[in-house]
Amino acid sequence: MIDVAWARSEYPLLAEKTYLNSGSYCPLAKRVKLAFEAYMDERLAVGANWDQWVLKSDEVRSLVARLLRVEDDEIAVTASVTAGLNAIASALDFSGDRNRIVVTDFEFPTNAQVWHAQAPRGAEVVHAKPGPDGYISAEAFENLIDDRTRLVAITHVCFRNGARLDIPSIVAMAHRRGALVLLDSYQAVGSIDIDARALGVDFAVGGMLKYLLGTAGIGYLYVRKALIPSLVPTVSGWWAQADIQAMDITRNNPHPTARRFEAGTPPVVNCYAAAAGLQLILEVGTDAIEAHIRALTRYCLDRLADIGWPSVTPARDDRRAAMIAIPSRASGRLMETLLARDIVTSHRDMNLRASFHYFNDDSDVDRLIAALAELKLDFGPA
Ligand SMILES: Cc1ncc(COP(=O)(O)O)c(C=O)c1O
Repeated sequence: MIDVAWARSEYPLLAEKTYLNSGSYCPLAKRVKLAFEAYMDERLAVGANWDQWVLKSDEVRSLVARLLRVEDDEIAVTASVTAGLNAIASALDFSGDRNRIVVTDFEFPTNAQVWHAQAPRGAEVVHAKPGPDGYISAEAFENLIDDRTRLVAITHVCFRNGARLDIPSIVAMAHRRGALVLLDSYQAVGSIDIDARALGVDFAVGGMLKYLLGTAGIGYLYVRKALIPSLVPTVSGWWAQADIQAMDITRNNPHPTARRFEAGTPPVVNCYAAAAGLQLILEVGTDAIEAHIRALTRYCLDRLADIGWPSVTPARDDRRAAMIAIPSRASGRLMETLLARDIVTSHRDMNLRASFHYFNDDSDVDRLIAALAELKLDFGPA
């Protein structure tokens, strides 16, 4: 059970606002603010703090490894999800018969654009599409994954409608057919429990500005240990070398661990904030967070049904995570109208997005639903 009063006491903003926007950017926790300040204090006191660059990025690496239940050596600390995707793309060969990449129509743009950008290197991208129920089931991949497939690069949870894919079934199918699987967990990590090894994925990317309670400008990449030696990224740099201090300009000597997928100076100040956010998530516990959010999103769906405003997020517990997407004929104006009432949401396409975290409770849902009930005539579904 999560002590919501304790949880809320970390976030001054929650005294003012009903915050349902962690799927875009989390509110700032006091301890994350203190972590930013610790960086500034150190700079004031010592100037050059090179040792901390290494220590803080290694701390983030270890915390992400604990979170995903993998080894530190399987984690690269990156500047963004996009940077991790590009590092992997650069290490894959698309010149032969296995040149296909399967993505879905649920991807955040970057996890499709990076793969389409590999076309000059021989890659061909195909898209798994939603069925009549709007969901992309594992069956949708049946005819797309075959012996031409190099990689299946898929989102864990869709940023537009909150649908959560059936990752174990898709991974099993991909592996049976000799394809690798990359999971974009940005809309999931921190809001649900993720065991990367149990899921069986080969790569996973995510970042720290949403449910991980950190900041923008930092991400991670998980690479399954057995794959690391065979993958040599051509997107690289001095922080990816076996020995950073060697300063050897005569050759590329990639690090034996997932550090080979890093590039230049780590996002130092962001590492401070990310570490504080990750510690908080681990302290609360991803099992407890997932259970709390499942109950809240269920309550939100039930209350939406009460006011006759359906959601496009799957009702099945195993097919959603923290976001409830609510169709509206004017989703942007609906978001602004709610903001004027101190209810913070976001919108994409024709959906209002309400995303929940461990510091939300039923009273937040009640406030949202009361406002929507009043606004339904002007902003209901098209
Ligand atoms: C699912 C998903 N993937 C990737 C990104 C973008 O990540 P980055 O800007 O760190 O590359 C986002 C950002 O909102 C996202 O929601």
